[in-house]
Amino acid sequence: MLVTLKEILAIAEEGKFAVPAFNVYNMETVMGCIEAAEEAKAPVILQSYSRLFTQGSAYYLAPIVLAAAEKASVPVCFHLDHGASEQETTRAIRYGATGVMIDASAFDFDKNVEITKRVVDTANYIGIDVEGELGHVGTVNDESMDEFTNPDEAKEFVEKTGVAALAVLVGTAHGRYKKPPKLDIERIAVIKEKANVPLVLHGGSGIPDDQIIASIKAGIRKINFGTDICYSFLDGVFAVDRSTVAVDLFMKEPINCVKQFALSKIKLLGAEGMAK
Ligand code: 13P
Repeated sequence: MLVTLKEILAIAEEGKFAVPAFNVYNMETVMGCIEAAEEAKAPVILQSYSRLFTQGSAYYLAPIVLAAAEKASVPVCFHLDHGASEQETTRAIRYGATGVMIDASAFDFDKNVEITKRVVDTANYIGIDVEGELGHVGTVNDESMDEFTNPDEAKEFVEKTGVAALAVLVGTAHGRYKKPPKLDIERIAVIKEKANVPLVLHGGSGIPDDQIIASIKAGIRKINFGTDICYSFLDGVFAVDRSTVAVDLFMKEPINCVKQFALSKIKLLGAEGMAK
């Protein structure tokens, strides 16, 4: 069933686990994630980067995600990942997203608040919840990163904007890590206590399992996986013999690889059996 970001995060909050948020790119990645969620009886978030909405793919992909979510027996939220502007979040909502992220984290605090609040006001008015970001989570290729999210600022940010979820900078980055990250678990716990909102971890691919588990104990309720979904899909593509020409048959293995990857993360995050 299709649910909103707030609804799915409430399930995670109640069960003290994290909902996996899988970045999807095509029908096959959607199929793999949904099959995993059904098998594990887990709530899941299927999300797409803003470029899929701005460059046209979402015209085809959004109806696939929505059809899959509506057919599913488990709660599924369709979320925009890293919307860069109010125009982008509006477009995603027009395509049926039931949650949107506005990422104004590269701006200073006041500007971030201003942009995020404007998006929250509009989205909430039509029943859509918003994820904001405070502390810019960059990529593994960045030379340096912002200072980690300040807990007092996080509290103020949540109060001023009304976001339903907050992405924080606590040691992760987007992409494939060159060496394992070291998360500031204590900081997550303090932010959670002060800001009292479901917290989001970006850059989920490659975080060691023990740190994922510790971060959830400290208050993380949504963890994003993008890079490793792509690798699992592509590993499947490269494993198939070229003599398989019918594309639907060719895609069975890539779909299965995505499913196995999604299942492993559902279990790690404690989401198995938590569908309500
Ligand atoms: P990874 O690609 O590092 O898993 O990060 C995904 C993400 O955080 C999407 O916003």
